[in-house]
Amino acid sequence: MLNPRKVAVIGCGFVGSSIAFSLIQRGLFSEMVLIDANQDKAEGEAMDLSHGLPYTATMDIHVGNYDDIADCALVIVTAGANQKPGETRIDLIDKNVAILKHIVPEIAKRNYEGILMIVSNPVDVLTYAAYKISGFPAHRVIGSGTVLDTARLKNLLGEHLDVDSRNVHAVIIGEHGDSELAVWSGANVSGIPLHHFCELRGHFDHEGSMQRLYEGVRDSAYEIIARKGATYYGIAMAVGRIAEGIVRDEHAVLPISVVLDGEYGLDGLCLSIPSIVGKDGVHKVLEIPLDESEYAALHASADRLREVIAHLDL
Ligand code: NAD
Ligand code: LAC
Repeated sequence: MLNPRKVAVIGCGFVGSSIAFSLIQRGLFSEMVLIDANQDKAEGEAMDLSHGLPYTATMDIHVGNYDDIADCALVIVTAGANQKPGETRIDLIDKNVAILKHIVPEIAKRNYEGILMIVSNPVDVLTYAAYKISGFPAHRVIGSGTVLDTARLKNLLGEHLDVDSRNVHAVIIGEHGDSELAVWSGANVSGIPLHHFCELRGHFDHEGSMQRLYEGVRDSAYEIIARKGATYYGIAMAVGRIAEGIVRDEHAVLPISVVLDGEYGLDGLCLSIPSIVGKDGVHKVLEIPLDESEYAALHASADRLREVIAHLDL
């Protein structure tokens, strides 16, 4: 039996510990298991996080092993190398697929029946690798996808237009990485088409602004890593949001990384695509309207990831 209020975080580095902190703040779970190859690191994080509990909701935070994950509703994998300045996410593939090949069989052999969420990079490729290695049904294997990149776009657009970013509806899809694309054709602010809203705010150079904002999103991680060595708060809040959609069975629309099975004419890979998310994981992968150039950019992104997948021994 799954415990709908139990979560495990595997990998307790910058990203894993920040996700744990974000999940505690949301009060979604009553038990959290922390696992890391470095046991001392996991223990230190469990101690530090537990010291905040008198000021949040009651929960049990403890270090565990793979036997402890069997009844989790959600297992989040953040273990693996992060990018050093100048490295792309794809450059991490060999190191991180090797780590995944250790972790995922440990999960699968416990007959795990909950949701497996991959956060380690390159996240779309590793989500597909986790799907293949685990043998789990596609709806139970997801990646954090471009939920973070979409938040970056909403944030930058909100600043550009001096409007609450929660009223901005725009999405980044494709690879969580250098080949991602912004779906400008459907972007709007509270239902007002984007270009119309831009003009209401005194902005008329649509092409120039879209290119600058897109590059700002695409290059965010490089800019942050050049300054502070790693990114972790943004992804922690993004994963908190996905976890909320799952635990509360919200049927939230989020651009997570999903296994494609013919959508957009694509299969044999995972890509970040708006999907309906609930307690069983992926309820539905959405085929959203794309204009011709967006459709071509999505296929180019898929081609890039398929090349990487083709070199993996899965
Ligand atoms: P980090 O080096 O701080 O932490 C990685 C942790 O993984 C370490 O504590 C290490 O001991 C642990 N680990 C390594 N092998 C393990 C194993 N076999 N089992 C259990 N634990 C193991 O790195 P970080 O900054 O936390 O980044 C982690 C990953 O998250 C990277 O791949 C990074 O690129 C990725 N990331 C993804 C996103 C996203 O949007 N998807 C955002 C930020 C970072
Ligand atoms: C990000 C990580 C590095 O912050 O994937 O986008």
